Amino acid sequence: SNFDLIVTGATIATASDTFQADIGIRDGRIAALGSDLGKAARVIDATGLLALPGGIDAHCHIEQESSTKLMTADDFYSGSVSAAHGGTTTIIPFAAQHKGQSLREVVRIAHERAGPKSVIDYAFHLIISDPSPQVMGQELPALIKDGYCSFKVYMTYELLKIDDRQMLDVLSLAREHGAMTMVHAENNDVINWISERLLSQGHVAPKFHAVSHNAIAESEASRRAIDLARLVDAPLLIVHVSTPEATAAIRDARNKGLRIYGETCPQYLFLTKEDLDREGMEGAKFCCSPPPRDKAAQEAIWLGLKNGSFEVFSSDHAPYRFDDSGKLNAGPNPSFKKIANGVPGLEIRLPLLYSEGVRTGRLTLNEFVALTSTNAAKLYGLHPRKGTIAIGSDADLVLFDPEWKRRITTDMLHDNVDYTPYEGRECTGWPRMVLSRGRVVIEEGELQVERGSGAFLEREPSPPADTTASADTPLDPAANFGANIL
Ligand code: URP
Ligand code: ZN
Ligand code: ZN
Ligand code: ZN
Repeated sequence: SNFDLIVTGATIATASDTFQADIGIRDGRIAALGSDLGKAARVIDATGLLALPGGIDAHCHIEQESSTKLMTADDFYSGSVSAAHGGTTTIIPFAAQHKGQSLREVVRIAHERAGPKSVIDYAFHLIISDPSPQVMGQELPALIKDGYCSFKVYMTYELLKIDDRQMLDVLSLAREHGAMTMVHAENNDVINWISERLLSQGHVAPKFHAVSHNAIAESEASRRAIDLARLVDAPLLIVHVSTPEATAAIRDARNKGLRIYGETCPQYLFLTKEDLDREGMEGAKFCCSPPPRDKAAQEAIWLGLKNGSFEVFSSDHAPYRFDDSGKLNAGPNPSFKKIANGVPGLEIRLPLLYSEGVRTGRLTLNEFVALTSTNAAKLYGLHPRKGTIAIGSDADLVLFDPEWKRRITTDMLHDNVDYTPYEGRECTGWPRMVLSRGRVVIEEGELQVERGSGAFLEREPSPPADTTASADTPLDPAANFGANIL
């Protein structure tokens, strides 16, 4: 027959268009879009369903050790299975460097972990915590050439943070070699200064995590990061944005023509700091950094998704169980400083945003696709192989039922976490079937593929920018007396 698989009757939605067509799939790729496509080994009737490009989760922590050597609850099997059930067909977790570690070694370990287990396709962002001469002079440029062309740096966490000078080194290197820098922007000194005062007054409960991680710590660091990127004309993506001010800073920078991008996550739309004030240690389940804020912040984040301040909507899935292997690894009643940071959310990312974003009219269906898939593919060098429904693209499809109503419970999810921050929340719009490179991965709520059947995705760095974005960068020879400091 002509095709391995034909999907009929669905309404296709991409980041730009919504249309009716049948989808012909051959050798794992989309080979035809049209009607009366002819014969196929299998035909899937998707009448009444949406066909969306598979979700791309560009920020998740899977089988990763934190800076304090705490392993996430999900390995590449449970993490990728959970992702797939939620309509995500590509994950970009982190290969994290601990201080003193070789980046080559970090990448080798990540492959060793993912290769035999992931059921969906994956790439890696690097985490750079130690920009030593060896790393900056040799390893990183070589790795970027090899396609590891995005990395995250931290402005906070004692064992991860780099200083402003190191950040300039990383940003200018990224600019030169065509990589994307992602930044965790919180002011470490502000957080520690507040924390010490709280602790000395005996304020140890989980809710004080949100007090110490003040919104100003985030907005100050975000503005500083933007200015550092601006100084060296480098692209920058600020991850997990939670505040109105940081959102505005990103938007202002973009309005000036700078390549400054933003990411936000479900926890900043659906949780608030009040969740950290639940009975006993329950609040620990909602401790993540930055923390959830207030209703006004949620509204600002929704607006940022609508007006283009944010390019990507990721989970920041950082899975720790509510026990001594995870959240409470420092003891049964740790101070807010000692609670493992992070919330799970890999599987509910699409349903939550669809239900509360698209169905309410806050976002169009096409904006939803851009935010959950297409934009990440573009920013991280995976487009058009991933992130769209077009001829030649990988047949990564979510057949999404926009009317399917389900209540989120811990039991229905496939991650290895023993709670969900969204317990009891009703969501309308869930995947019925998920395809990855033409393979049916999820059908009738059941996994259909083998461990390790996901593929590592080769990427290519983007060529260096040849234009300066704004008139006041020192890259501009006229503004800089003819000297090129970079
Ligand atoms: O609290 C969080 N988000 N933990 C995960 C690590 C990070 O900073 O993304
Ligand atoms: Zn972070
Ligand atoms: Zn994260
Ligand atoms: Zn903290």
